[in-house]
Amino acid sequence: MKKLIGPFKQIVTLANLPLRGKLDDSQLEIVENGGILISENLIEKIGDFKDLKIDLENSNDTFELHLIETEQICLPAFVDAHTHICFGGNRANDFAMRNGGKTYLQIAESGGGIWSSVLHTREASQEELLETLLERINSLLKLGITTIEIKSGYGLDVENELKMLRVIQQAQIQTKATLIPTCLSAHLKPRDFEGGNKEYLEYIIKEILPIVAKENLAKRVDIFIEKSAFLEEESRDYLLKAKELGFEITVHADQFTPGSSRIAVEVGAKSADHLEASTDEDIVYLANSDTVAIALPGASLGLGEPFTPARKILDNNGILAIASDWNPGSAPMGNLLVQASILATFQKLSTAEVLSAITFRAAHALNLSDRGILQKGKKADFVTFETDNFQNILYKQGSLLAKNIFIDADIQKF
Ligand code: NIG
Ligand code: FE
Repeated sequence: MKKLIGPFKQIVTLANLPLRGKLDDSQLEIVENGGILISENLIEKIGDFKDLKIDLENSNDTFELHLIETEQICLPAFVDAHTHICFGGNRANDFAMRNGGKTYLQIAESGGGIWSSVLHTREASQEELLETLLERINSLLKLGITTIEIKSGYGLDVENELKMLRVIQQAQIQTKATLIPTCLSAHLKPRDFEGGNKEYLEYIIKEILPIVAKENLAKRVDIFIEKSAFLEEESRDYLLKAKELGFEITVHADQFTPGSSRIAVEVGAKSADHLEASTDEDIVYLANSDTVAIALPGASLGLGEPFTPARKILDNNGILAIASDWNPGSAPMGNLLVQASILATFQKLSTAEVLSAITFRAAHALNLSDRGILQKGKKADFVTFETDNFQNILYKQGSLLAKNIFIDADIQKF
């Protein structure tokens, strides 16, 4: 049976836009008084609501009408391509100490930092982790985000990394959101590991990744390349080996010191994420590659660090996505729309550039070509806002809340 959803004051399809480079709002396709025709759960047509309805009535098709009673606009549902939302404990004390002027080392010495999230995540049972993960997934869904990447990386040994990835797998059974798991066992060498970084990375290759592949727990591998985590040369070797095992690659790059985005490009990573410390040369190099540059304004806001030079990435014809990085330490907010709106004001991004960065360009970073635009044949995930103009979404800086969320053309109830 077919389904017609509408009428919407505006449908912003985000169709027919280039994958890379800058965008002007005049390039956006906006269908006024639009409807979305669904067939077999996929989008069949976007057009004038009245015309679509007349066509259906004159056809032999049986159809269902989903009438939108109030004034709403509709966009493709959002994609959050970088999160760490499977974790135990919280790091409010880190945040308070950091704002009180304490250094990274002082925070770590007083029991904070990534290691404290590792200890809390190891302590948590699968059931506890699943419950809090599902709560966070739901809060993202309510914002209109229906595709969520989720990293491991707070287990840091065979047992606990697999525990995290299995929890994400279980969560997928209980949510309509699409979850994209990523193995981030190379987040940090755990304090209780006997051996150096090189040995730990070998341990991941030998003991963790083969099981991850066998149990289909993740298709993607990530690493945190930074002086305090893994160095460039050892990371390159690790990523090439992970690639040989069949994994797609993504990298935490250039967060505090530049250089590692080059490695992401050299190994053919799908994305290089962070980039707050990238030099102009790094940005040009990255922008000339097929690796998506992912800005994480939530981490800049959580740490008080500079924003990713998103404007330069687009001006150099790069592929820009924006993600939340939601994690207990550096990015505790978990609100992609607030963060993307703020990045837009500081980096001078057009509405079209921001919306593309959290829809089809973010989907591309996750190797998903079936979503992120509203067009024939695409997945029927969309978000609506009760307003008369799409520009109000960024103008309200996240305080205009999503009204309805549709997944596979079904309205979601929370
Ligand atoms: O993306 N940079 C490294 N990893 C995370 C932070 C994780 C944490 O602090 O727990 C990030 O910002
Ligand atoms: Fe991160």
